[in-house]
Amino acid sequence: MPNQNPFDQQQPIPGVKKIIAVSSGKGGVGKSTVATNLAVALAQLENRVGLLDADIYGPSLPRMMGALNQAPEVSKDNKILPIERHGIKIMSMGLLTPEDTAVVWRGPMLFKAMNQLFFEVDWGELDYLVIDLPPGTGDVQLSMVQKVPVNGAITVCTPQNIALADVKKSIDMFERVNVPILGVVENMSYIWNPENPDEKLQMFPKGDLRNYLAEKNIELIAEVPMVAAIALACEMGIPYTAQKNENDAVAGAYKRMAEGLSAQI
Ligand SMILES: Nc1ncnc2c1ncn2[C@@H]1O[C@H](COP(=O)(O)OP(=O)(O)O)[C@@H](O)[C@H]1O
Ligand SMILES: [Mg+2]
Repeated sequence: MPNQNPFDQQQPIPGVKKIIAVSSGKGGVGKSTVATNLAVALAQLENRVGLLDADIYGPSLPRMMGALNQAPEVSKDNKILPIERHGIKIMSMGLLTPEDTAVVWRGPMLFKAMNQLFFEVDWGELDYLVIDLPPGTGDVQLSMVQKVPVNGAITVCTPQNIALADVKKSIDMFERVNVPILGVVENMSYIWNPENPDEKLQMFPKGDLRNYLAEKNIELIAEVPMVAAIALACEMGIPYTAQKNENDAVAGAYKRMAEGLSAQI
């Protein structure tokens, strides 16, 4: 059997300088929320930013970015043109299919769709492309790292110890495919009420994730609180960071995350 390295197939995405993947072991931990707010925070630092929804079966970026029912146009050279919202260029399977229609595909169709999202979109010039991954360590994640050079991955988790096993799997996957781990975001880290900003309500003891990360020498790059306004922002299609510019507990966490990542890659 020829000893072909699958990573030989990697190709840069035209016009894109840096690719950051946002992953998690579990669904519902806030990957898409983190991806959208991080994208906006990076754009607020004067970067040109794109956001690619690689959650083919459960795309949520069109809703979270306020781009539902927007059909992308096609350029003269047959490339799909991303939709622009809140200063970010976005592309998602959800822009190419109706929101309530299930994408029912097997592997080969999935790979075709991913190729289209990676190589048939005209991003123009981007400093960062943030990729919102589906949960887990499956076909999409592997095909991403085989196809495009990912500069680094962020793993999102919640503070319960039951989520820790999934964090470990996610990190293990990126280590095996040689994608640098830029850090872990603890989302819904504590409960915070902007009306009472000095109070942080901690729901879980904080030991195990931090010990694990220290052991692995991986940085905890943000502790984002659980805030009603974040959930509402997702529903409204205007990311929290696009609404609030003051350095509150949420916007500040995203700003520091964006600054830290820019310095790191
Ligand atoms: N820090 C937070 N505070 C409040 N709600 C949040 C927070 N992070 C995420 N959510 C909400 O939790 C739900 C799941 O988040 P989502 O980003 O879709 O998760 P995932 O992409 O990991 O499946 C969404 O309704 C979102 O609005
Ligand atoms: Mg998601």
